[in-house]
Amino acid sequence: MKIAVLPGDGIGTEIVAEAVKVLKALDLKFEMETAPVGGAAYEAAGHPLPESTLALAKSADAILFGAVGDWKYDKLDRPLRPEQAILGLRKALGLFANFRPAICYEQLTHASSLKPELVAGLDILIIRELTGDIYFGQPRGRRTAVDGHFPGAEEAFDTMRYSRPEIERIARVAFEAARKRSKRVTSVDKANVLETFQLWKDVVTEAHKDYPDVALDHMYVDNAAMQLVKAPKAFDVIVTGNMFGDILSDEASMLTGSIGMLPSASLNDKKQGLYEPSHGSAPDIAGKGVANPLATILSAAMMLRFSLNQPEAADRIETAVKKVLAQGLRTPDIYSDGTTKVGTVQMGDAVVNALR
Ligand code: NAD
Ligand code: IPM
Ligand code: MN
Repeated sequence: MKIAVLPGDGIGTEIVAEAVKVLKALDLKFEMETAPVGGAAYEAAGHPLPESTLALAKSADAILFGAVGDWKYDKLDRPLRPEQAILGLRKALGLFANFRPAICYEQLTHASSLKPELVAGLDILIIRELTGDIYFGQPRGRRTAVDGHFPGAEEAFDTMRYSRPEIERIARVAFEAARKRSKRVTSVDKANVLETFQLWKDVVTEAHKDYPDVALDHMYVDNAAMQLVKAPKAFDVIVTGNMFGDILSDEASMLTGSIGMLPSASLNDKKQGLYEPSHGSAPDIAGKGVANPLATILSAAMMLRFSLNQPEAADRIETAVKKVLAQGLRTPDIYSDGTTKVGTVQMGDAVVNALR
């Protein structure tokens, strides 16, 4: 079993170190190889996703990823951004199915942005399409406007785009996932306005015919954003496009207490996967030793379950996380009265100790 470890930028290095520590404590036989990615690789090797890093990722059974990006690139006039590394990996490995489970652990109901009764027992799964949509659609670029409200002005454009097979395969992933849960899928679109999402809705509805045991409903994304904070437990599996899924998963993270709790798995059709927290490099807290490593540790558990065929080890990690939360240990993002504030490393150590 070979794991490519790509820590990246900002808190990426801090949180991945904790997940690696937990993986090593399992006493399984892994080969782990680390490579630079993101801004760190851009500075050292001239590209956010160097050839050697991509080759390592392709050769691995699974990739453990931290985060990439830094505010300084907003001001620097560079042809690429660190974020190109994660987008490039998703595209190059065909990682089209992104699982982002939003689970509110019993001990964190009071850390949620919502009233405890609205999130107690919350367990929803956002399935985000990850290699299409406006993120990758061509053409895109800048030009001088020839029409519109301001002809002659500089304008920028992106293309929102989905093909029938791209929609169908993610819909099937969602229906299959729902079969193992409470058998409900909500497909989130903007079919009242966008051609792309009219096709989305049609294709999801057609694919649904093969899953009569699963209930399907459709919801516009603006309403879905509202319903998520009104009555999140009404959802089970949410399936949506790349951009809506990006936004809704950050929103859903706050139902669980913190974005520092939301893991993710990005899979291709070969079960090869990239595992990363749903959050970014958090430049505002990088280097301070306070980042919550649990989203990354829980991503490592997803890696063991989905790509490395080690479900017992995955269970051990998830149980250990619940134990440390029950012990009252909290990084600042989930701290509340009566709990004990700890840093990134202490939290990782506590998970390791709770494994035994
Ligand atoms: P962010 O997710 O990095 O941070 C948003 C807020 O959440 C910040 O206040 C941060 O301190 C907090 N936060 C995030 N993770 C946390 C954790 N583990 N523990 C405690 N608090 C945490 O989003 P941003 O600030 O918009 O983006 C920063 C950079 O990260 C940008 O360059 C962005 O493009 C990049 N980014 C990368 C990824 C990725 O690599 N997959 C994902 C999202 C954002
Ligand atoms: C995420 C991030 C990425 C995305 C960025 C960094 C490209 O926000 O993984 O959620 O938009 O997909
Ligand atoms: Mn995001």
